[in-house]
Amino acid sequence: MITESVAHYSKSLAEQGDFPAYVYDLDALAQHAAAVRDALAGSPEIFYAAKANPDPAFLRTIAPFVDGFEVASGGELLHVLDAVPGSRIAFGGPGKTDAELRDALRLQVERIHVESPYELKRLAELSRSTGGADIMLRVNLAGDRAGAALAMTGPFGMDPELIETCRGILELAPWLRLRGIHAHLASGLDADAMLRQSEQILAWARPWLSSAGVESPEINLGGGMAVDYANPECRFDWQTYAGGISKLAQPGETLRIEPGRALAVYAGWYVTDVLDVKQAHGEWYAVVRGGTMQIRTPVTKGHDHPFTVLPGGSSEGPAVASAPVTFVGQLCTPKDVFAKSVPVSRISVGDVVAFSMAGAYAWNISHYNFLMHPHPTFHYLPQP
Ligand SMILES: Cc1ncc(COP(=O)(O)O)c(C=O)c1O
Repeated sequence: MITESVAHYSKSLAEQGDFPAYVYDLDALAQHAAAVRDALAGSPEIFYAAKANPDPAFLRTIAPFVDGFEVASGGELLHVLDAVPGSRIAFGGPGKTDAELRDALRLQVERIHVESPYELKRLAELSRSTGGADIMLRVNLAGDRAGAALAMTGPFGMDPELIETCRGILELAPWLRLRGIHAHLASGLDADAMLRQSEQILAWARPWLSSAGVESPEINLGGGMAVDYANPECRFDWQTYAGGISKLAQPGETLRIEPGRALAVYAGWYVTDVLDVKQAHGEWYAVVRGGTMQIRTPVTKGHDHPFTVLPGGSSEGPAVASAPVTFVGQLCTPKDVFAKSVPVSRISVGDVVAFSMAGAYAWNISHYNFLMHPHPTFHYLPQP
């Protein structure tokens, strides 16, 4: 899966020998974000989870198609406001420091997602003299997350018992304005599973917020919309999700989601070239320039990363045809694997390999100084 403009541009990078490179197709990003926005037609609101890819060009390209941004640290908060000044911001994440909370108050972020009773107490103290804060309480509901790539079990938010203790804290701090409930329970759910989860969140949140006296409640249903690395053409069914949500929605409330991966992943490619082709103990390997220290996704997810081979390599170097090939990088570790035993029609030294679905949780989660290879270059299409 490669767009025409990325394939064309990658060939020009090959001529300049400018690998490895991240190539971002901002037109493709805008088109995809527009399609998601059109499918949802305003409800739920979309806050892009900046952690998926906080590249300023991504943020600016996505901004016209979303309602705001979800940030999960003081660093992301400052970065996003710098890239897209005036954005609506929801600030979440466990373990917020006082300094981060002070920044959020100073910058008047629209919503602070509170993760624990202790955090709520600290926020009450810090915001007492600053005009208070608009908050959502993050709930961590139990439930069957069958099919999820990642269930957010553990210390995220508050379980229904713990969240009860927030009532007393809020009573003593009327300057904290409780606006609603935030929930992000799992990643990698298809539309049907996401709808079942949304229904569960709504069923819990509505009576809780009503008993807390919240008028015009807001419910943030989280991110985690699935992407399929094994089948890149198969995308999250936003139409089905939108249809299901419109049936669940009730007048007088605001629903919100905060997807990251499903918005950003399709707009990036990690493009590199083959340095060596060889056989070891019967298995064929293609060694590419760079490695998974620059795109951590395949190792983190434990999958074969999708790629396209753009032929054009040397006719003299080693090559292999019609064989399963394992794609590895330049790191001195057997874990540096992009894709294992994947059938290829032919691969030779000098061929270009474009790893797709590198627009989210790729460069920004990578340990790129390991072994001190040159960093990739970054390219944005269309070029200005
Ligand atoms: C609180 C929260 N919201 C949103 C997201 C975005 O999830 P995804 O990129 O899977 O849509 C995450 C991811 O970890 C998260 O922790």
